[in-house]
Formats: sequence, structure tokens, C-alpha cells
Amino acid sequence: MQTEIIKVTDKNCSDTVKRAADVLRLGGLVAFPTETVYGLGGNGLDAQASGKIYAAKGRPSDNPLILHIAEREQLCDIAQGIDARAEALMDAFWPGPLTLILKKAPKVPYETTGGLDTVAVRMPSHPVAAALLRAVKLPIAAPSANTSGRPSPTAAEHVIEDMSGRIDMILDGGSVGIGVESTIIDLTEEIPMLLRPGFITLDMAEHVIGRVDVDKAVTRQVSADVRPKAPGMKYRHYAPKAAMEIVDGDICKVVDYVNTQAEALKRENKKVGVLATDETKGMYNADTVLSVGSRESIESVAHNLFGVLRAFDACKVDCIFSESFPDEGEGSAVMNRLRKAAGHNIKRV
Ligand code: TXA
Ligand code: MG
Repeated sequence: MQTEIIKVTDKNCSDTVKRAADVLRLGGLVAFPTETVYGLGGNGLDAQASGKIYAAKGRPSDNPLILHIAEREQLCDIAQGIDARAEALMDAFWPGPLTLILKKAPKVPYETTGGLDTVAVRMPSHPVAAALLRAVKLPIAAPSANTSGRPSPTAAEHVIEDMSGRIDMILDGGSVGIGVESTIIDLTEEIPMLLRPGFITLDMAEHVIGRVDVDKAVTRQVSADVRPKAPGMKYRHYAPKAAMEIVDGDICKVVDYVNTQAEALKRENKKVGVLATDETKGMYNADTVLSVGSRESIESVAHNLFGVLRAFDACKVDCIFSESFPDEGEGSAVMNRLRKAAGHNIKRV
């Protein structure tokens, strides 16, 4: 399949989204930028289009898709039981990086929800995503536009790398703003449950609706026999090709430990990568030392994280040591993705 790649500019935006909307209406797949990561869109009400999404990503079909909408009125078509908590969260954070899990409406095919009776919904704020959704007037199922298991795409180049030849169209809207996927909150239980941390933090959500519990799979590896609430949480995810270890502790001790390990691995002819920060990158002796951002700005770390994980693949390192970040506020999203990238391999020093 020939994939059409279109750079979206202010000038061509309205024509481009109209064309992309036509592709979606005809059952095709279009990747587009959102404020979090690039999404791989298809008509969420069309079981066949959902099937194409799973095939293009190589994604297990029990891992449900998020439906993206442009207007609140679209919600009653796809979800039921929209209560005061849902309304309050939508008032506070939509459009924006928050996904809500609600009871699904009959119109949504089980192929889209991975067989579940619930549905994930979000209203993105990125101007290209919003324009596309307004033009197509359909709920668009859009997982992150990466091959299943690879880091989510935060630039069009990443989407091209993974999806070229597999989908109809890629809208290139440049680098995304946030860089980690939306926060997911399940509202189908009595106590709302955070299933995936993102830039809407636990505190921010609790400020609006009171107590929110955190799913165990957010911070811990779940054993193979447990089915986590967000099925996506059980897969090794966001993963670079190399083995990865997170090193947690006082930063001087982290540097010492990593340099000692790197030296030993070099003697075995292994290529070592270090995921460092602006403040520490000069302190490591390794083959590839990449800064993920400044320790002063967790936003910069989130923004660069997936791109840096992809860059390690390009450098063909054998193993990666990563610094750790405070697991609080927006740092929780970073640490959740890092832990999954490392397969929960954490060394405390
Ligand atoms: O920021 C985002 O949310 C991006 C952009 C493109 O919008 N999308 C995204 O989709 O990250 P995806 O498919 O890569 O991740 C969706 C996650 C998965 O972990 C999935 O298991 C969970 O949402 N999920 C979807 N529907 C669910 C449901 N009904 N119940 C529980 N978890 C659900
Ligand atoms: Mg994903």
C-alpha cells in the first residue's frame, strides 16, 4: 500500500483534513498528531476499520482502542451512564490529555473495545486532531501510531518509520507537545480508578472528583494470570530493542554504578547506552549517552522520552542504563513508561 504523507500547514490544513476525513469515512486509516502522541485513526464504529488498525500495528485484538471525538454531543452515541463525575472531569480537562472509561453504547462494535462492555473516550486539543475530528463527524478509534511494543511516536518521522506502506495517510504536524499518552481514568466503578498516568495528574483529578484509586498495574508488574483493567498495561511496551535497567538512587551513586557496569560490559564488546539528563550527561563513560531533558523540567523529559528510546535503537546499543525520576505528579507518567520500557528491571543503589 502506498502511504500518502502530507505536511500540514496553516494554509493547507482545511483541505488536508477534508481529504483525510474522506479516507476515514471510506474505512481507511490516517495517522494524525495529537497533543500527547501521534494516533493511528480509523472509523471507531466500523468493525472492519478497527480490524485494520490492529493489523497495521500488529496489536493483540484484546487491547481496546480509544475513541476520539470533537464535540461533547457525540458522547451519547458511544457511551452510557455519563454521571456527574464524568461531566466534572470533562468540564475541567477536555479538550485535553484525559481519557475516560465509560459503559459502552450498543453502536460501538466489540472489535473496537477488545470485547469489553466499556469504552475509552477522549477529546484531543491538538488543532490538527480537532479539525480532523470536526470534519469527519465520526468517533475515531486511535491508538498510538507505533508498531505494537515500540515506543509511541512523538514526531511524524516515528510514524513513517513504523507505518509506511501499512496505512493510507500520515498527517505530519511536526513534533507533539506533551510526549506521553493521555491519563486514563475508569469511571465504571464506584471509586474512580487511574489506569494510566499522564499529564493530568492524580492530584488534578482528585481536586475535581475527590478520591481516585490507582490501579496496581501502574506501578508494578502484573503477573501473567492477572488481567489488568487496562489490557494494554500487561504488554512490554514502549520498549527499545536493547535490554534496559533503571538505576535509582543518589545521582552520584547512579553515575558510579553505571560507569562501573559500562566498563565491564565494554570488555565483553557490548555497546552501552545511557539515558542521562542535561545536568549529568558529561559524567558518563559509555558508547552512547543521550540526554532526555533537564532534571529541572519533567515536562522536557516527558517530551523527549520516546524519541530518545527510539534513538537508542538507531545506535544499536546492546544495553541501556536509565536514570530515574521522582515518581510524583507528572513524573509518574514518565516513570510508568520507563518501568515498562525496562520490563520493571530496576536497580537501587
Ligand atoms: O494519548 C493517547 O491516549 C493516545 C493518543 C493517540 O490519543 N492514544 C493511546 O492509545 O495511547 P493506545 O491504544 O496506545 O492506548 C490505549 C490504552 C491501552 O492501554 C488500552 O488497554 C486502554 O487504553 N483502554 C482502551 N479502552 C479501554 C477500556 N475500555 N477499558 C480499559 N482500558 C482501556
Ligand atoms: Mg500505545
